[in-house]
Amino acid sequence: MSLRLLLIVINVIAFAAIAGIIIWRVVSLRRNPEPKKPQNLEPFLNDEEMEGRKLERVLGLALIAVLVMAVSIPLYFLVEPSRESSAQDDFDERAVERGAVLFANDQSPHYDPTRSLLCANCHGVEGEGGSTTFVIRSEDPDCDLTKDITDDTPPECLPSQVTWQAPPLDVALLRYDKAQVRDIITYGRPGTPMPAWGVKSGKGVLNEQGISDLVAYLETLQLTPAEAKKRFSVDTIRDKSAKDVTDARKAVTDAQQAVADAPTAAARATAQKDLDDAQTALQSTITYNEHVQQASDGELVFESQCARCHTKGWSYYDPLNPDAAPAPGPQGGGAYGPNLTDGSEERQFPGQAGPENQYDWVANGKPANESYGVRGISSGRMPHYINILSKDEIEAVVDYERGL
Ligand code: HEC
Ligand code: HEC
Repeated sequence: MSLRLLLIVINVIAFAAIAGIIIWRVVSLRRNPEPKKPQNLEPFLNDEEMEGRKLERVLGLALIAVLVMAVSIPLYFLVEPSRESSAQDDFDERAVERGAVLFANDQSPHYDPTRSLLCANCHGVEGEGGSTTFVIRSEDPDCDLTKDITDDTPPECLPSQVTWQAPPLDVALLRYDKAQVRDIITYGRPGTPMPAWGVKSGKGVLNEQGISDLVAYLETLQLTPAEAKKRFSVDTIRDKSAKDVTDARKAVTDAQQAVADAPTAAARATAQKDLDDAQTALQSTITYNEHVQQASDGELVFESQCARCHTKGWSYYDPLNPDAAPAPGPQGGGAYGPNLTDGSEERQFPGQAGPENQYDWVANGKPANESYGVRGISSGRMPHYINILSKDEIEAVVDYERGL
């Protein structure tokens, strides 16, 4: 039996006993047993008897009570801080558990069909990042988007379905402060698949408590800065791309073998089709790898970290399948974050100290409502990168941006 249950049982028994006594008194009052003389008319003990053992007993009891107090108050004083902190730990642990349930999808151990909000569907079961499909509307100026879609709608006016990358959340708190993460969850990211979850936004179901629980859970998922720096380093990106080429080559060799081994004409036709697909995949992997190996560190960092906010359409651009979605806007041309091209960063962070100030902004960020650059005021929405990129990589990306 848990302590909690035991306490509940003791309380129930105590309440029942008190209620029983009250009822018994009321009932026995009604019954009005044989009349008694009022107590103040009854003669009491004389002085001799009062000031003898009786007095000593009462004083002795008082002494014992003082002793109990004298010991228990310091004891309580000693125990209270650790009791308080363990109660706080329990409280936090329960918040994390509730957050885990909210975050989960049916692949997660914490999944609860009635309570889970399926963040994991888009962001990955461990918050490692993922993707989701999303429908974007045509932006062709010749299209009248108020009209219903019919068979006559020109193809360039149709909405298109894209695969939108959902960022990893196991580094979210290395890049944002907690208040910002709360805001993102509460208000979502309009124009992206990220919905608003907070009641405060007028669209969501989560109260302050629910949002806090999610943030508490996200905190437990965070990588260490060293792990994050390794995962996002330009070396890792280049190694992975080179390995993708090796894997794609192997897939082609395997597919060639399958064609050679095909027992029947029909099987050969299917194998030939797989081989064609593998060859196309190899071609685009090689093309992309050439770009990755030749690009400067700054460009690579920009593509992997910054472009999703500073380049329109980057979140659904797949370099291995560039025709699958509408082409992205000009690199650094602005989207959720401002346009960084046309020398705008030379103007925002001018002069000799410019690169250094811009480095500080990208590396450490600024709390909301503090100024940056010449005419910048932080909204808290731009992540800071000192925890997930190396100093050299940040310098490289600053340099790249200043050249845009
Ligand atoms: C339908 C898919 C989807 C679901 C479900 C979803 N998200 Fe997102 N979330 C996204 C996408 C996409 C983005 C990036 C938006 C962008 O491109 O700016 C995002 C961004 C975020 C960010 C900001 C991360 C960053 O680095 O910019 C946080 C934090 C976040 N989501 C938390 C959550 C939480 C918590 C839940 C569950 C309550 C959730 N998301 C559910 C798709 C989703
Ligand atoms: C989650 C979206 C997001 C990502 C990712 C992001 N930024 Fe930003 N960035 C912003 C927003 C929003 C602003 C506008 C400032 C603000 O609102 O506080 C901004 C502003 C800036 C500015 C100042 C622009 C100006 O002229 O005022 C620079 C420079 C910048 N970002 C560089 C970067 C670099 C470098 C990276 C990648 C390492 C990056 N950003 C990644 C959202 C983002």
